[in-house]
Amino acid sequence: MIENPFILEPYKSKELFCDREKECSTILSYLNNGRNVTLISPRRLGKTGLIRRIFDEIYLTGQRFDTIYADISASQSIEDFIKILSAAVAESVYRKNKVTDFLKSLGGIRPLIGIDELTGKPQLTFTFRAEEEKVLTIKALFDCLEKNKKQVILAIDEFQQIREYSGVNMEAVLRSYIQPLRNVRFIFSGSKKHVMTDMFSNARNPFYESTTFVSLEKLDRSIYGSFIQHLFNQYGKEISPNLVQQMIVWSEGYTYYTQALCNEVFLRSGDSVTSEDVKGAKQAILSLNRDRFLELQRLSTRGQWKLLKAIALEGEVQQPTGEYFLKKYGLPSGSSVLKTMKALIEKELVLATPTEQGVTYCVYNIFLKRYLESL
Ligand SMILES: Nc1ncnc2c1ncn2[C@@H]1O[C@H](COP(=O)(O)OP(=O)(O)OP(=O)(O)O)[C@@H](O)[C@H]1O
Ligand SMILES: [Mg+2]
Repeated sequence: MIENPFILEPYKSKELFCDREKECSTILSYLNNGRNVTLISPRRLGKTGLIRRIFDEIYLTGQRFDTIYADISASQSIEDFIKILSAAVAESVYRKNKVTDFLKSLGGIRPLIGIDELTGKPQLTFTFRAEEEKVLTIKALFDCLEKNKKQVILAIDEFQQIREYSGVNMEAVLRSYIQPLRNVRFIFSGSKKHVMTDMFSNARNPFYESTTFVSLEKLDRSIYGSFIQHLFNQYGKEISPNLVQQMIVWSEGYTYYTQALCNEVFLRSGDSVTSEDVKGAKQAILSLNRDRFLELQRLSTRGQWKLLKAIALEGEVQQPTGEYFLKKYGLPSGSSVLKTMKALIEKELVLATPTEQGVTYCVYNIFLKRYLESL
């Protein structure tokens, strides 16, 4: 069986990753010029993939950086943060067999070092005798990177998560240790735009104006179209440009959803992709997700589901309290719609995008949107 070239993971290789050339070189030039970067986009658009792509580019072109990636999305506390960061640092140090140097550089705090059985990656367990030891460990980790021979790029993915830790002003702690570093450059990446913007552009907060913003947009449709066409052809399948465009339109060129659709079409088609293959793939995706969507419906109030469906049918809503929208979908008063909308945004079912004309609301998950349209 031929391997499916439409990856459903953030990054595999440059060949299977579409474009992002400009973003990649812009971010690299910022880092090369001593700036730290804040990378923002809605979920599933390709932030993690882009970080991986940047790291791969550094590797491919032999640039002068060591790279470290830490995904802190699962962390709930400063202890979790230390665990994830130290494992990420150890992994990059491990590769060079300098574990003892690394442990030494942590000073008085001696972690137990082991291997995670599931992932095969290093795992460090710290026992803290006093609260101060926690922040000191973070400092020690950064100091260790400061002493690294090559410059280091540390990407902290889902950075907004640090706001969830209780009992510590993590932004102040990190900012104070990060500011003096000369040998380490940071990429702070996150999907919660309002939290990230507040962290980095609100004068009251420690990270205020300390980084350069890069926001990731959807891929250019014609570049994405050529990429899809090329991969089908290269892997032995004919497909018409028209069908490629149809797939992009249905999945709104939203990377995760477009990749998932292409992956499904690829696996169910023969040497030549037909419109029946595309139709079948769409149906398969919706029926695969049906249980999850029914569960979502069960967990929502009737009002929330009704509003969500109205947004799906409308595509994009700019004036959710306007008479036209309320009347068309039989919605209650504007104030109640606003309250419901807030709940839908918090549940990440609706994406609110600020534009010059005001805020635009749409259903976050494209497959859910297609499902709602089909009801
Ligand atoms: N440039 C690209 N080329 C091909 N596929 C891509 C590209 N960017 C993203 N993808 C696809 O989209 C999916 C989501 O990308 P990724 O996980 O990088 O997004 P993210 O913004 O980090 O999402 P989250 O906020 O949920 O962590 C990937 O699994 C991959 O299938
Ligand atoms: Mg990600």
